[in-house]
Amino acid sequence: MTETRIIPADEAGIGEAATLILRGQPVAVPTETVYGLAGDATSGEAVAAIYTAKGRPSFNPLIVHVTDQAMAETIAEFPPLARKLAKAFWPGPLTMVLDKAPGAPVASLLTAGLPTVAIRMPLHPVMRALIETTGRPLAAPSANASGSISATRADHVARSLAGKIELVLDGGPTAVGIESTIVAVGNDGLRLLRPGSVTVEMLETATGLTIETSDSGKIEAPGQMLSHYAPAKPVRLDALSAKPGEFLIGFGAVQGDASLSPSADLTEAAAHLFDVLHVADGSAAAAIAIAPIPDRGLGLAINDRLKRAAAPR
Ligand code: TXA
Ligand code: MG
Repeated sequence: MTETRIIPADEAGIGEAATLILRGQPVAVPTETVYGLAGDATSGEAVAAIYTAKGRPSFNPLIVHVTDQAMAETIAEFPPLARKLAKAFWPGPLTMVLDKAPGAPVASLLTAGLPTVAIRMPLHPVMRALIETTGRPLAAPSANASGSISATRADHVARSLAGKIELVLDGGPTAVGIESTIVAVGNDGLRLLRPGSVTVEMLETATGLTIETSDSGKIEAPGQMLSHYAPAKPVRLDALSAKPGEFLIGFGAVQGDASLSPSADLTEAAAHLFDVLHVADGSAAAAIAIAPIPDRGLGLAINDRLKRAAAPR
């Protein structure tokens, strides 16, 4: 049992975090999407320590984070379409699944033995500083116990991973609030593996392609399990009012005990989603109900998370 400390994500904090990471220990850090549990992607022991802290099945591979295109190309092969997407959306909340480059300096445990690798160039200055200070590509899954609600604030991380990690860098609430969009990129097309704030419409505009959304029911991102992001309490979707004992999460005209966005703004709703789920889960109510969210633009990503939060476990 380790004592988990929360410290400010300033220069001293980043220095301390880098030291721990170079010793093979995972540290929770803010990114623009959600908090990540960052570790040295080049070290098998460090990657194993991330899986252990999260209680994550080791068949579920991790995302590698880099600061620049040259670093990215030591890790993955970039067909022209991937370059185009990198130009359009990096740094930012887009993850690409690409073929691993020959001799890629990442532990085989990180990709769970797959020939592909998930890679992203984050925008958040703290995550970027940590990659620069350690000089390593950093593996970072969301900083929460496997299968539970993602963390958008340092105290969410501390609640979920208390005693499992030594350090949380506090950089305040994250801006986007939901995990990055994941696309699998081939020579002539791309498939959406996880919806996020880089929307299907944005991807289509940037590439001139039509995007297949893989709703065949097949799990393509191994982490896209049906039950995920799960609060401890049962969750009911599309609720217009609360039943007895329910904490109602509102949106737009549905007011509820807390609202994702009173003005029905999807960007604001995404930013508040996990925080409001944490609040509902921590309340005295026995169950959680959630107002309907329109299934367009960023709403697709929000509904993806909500469906999994409500799924039978
Ligand atoms: O915004 C984000 O992406 C955050 C921040 C910390 O960067 N990270 C994050 O990581 O959400 P995680 O581990 O919670 O989700 C990564 C997803 C999983 O569903 C995993 O199965 C999928 O990426 N994935 C990783 N490598 C893959 C691969 N080679 N092929 C298909 N899916 C992959
Ligand atoms: Mg996650």
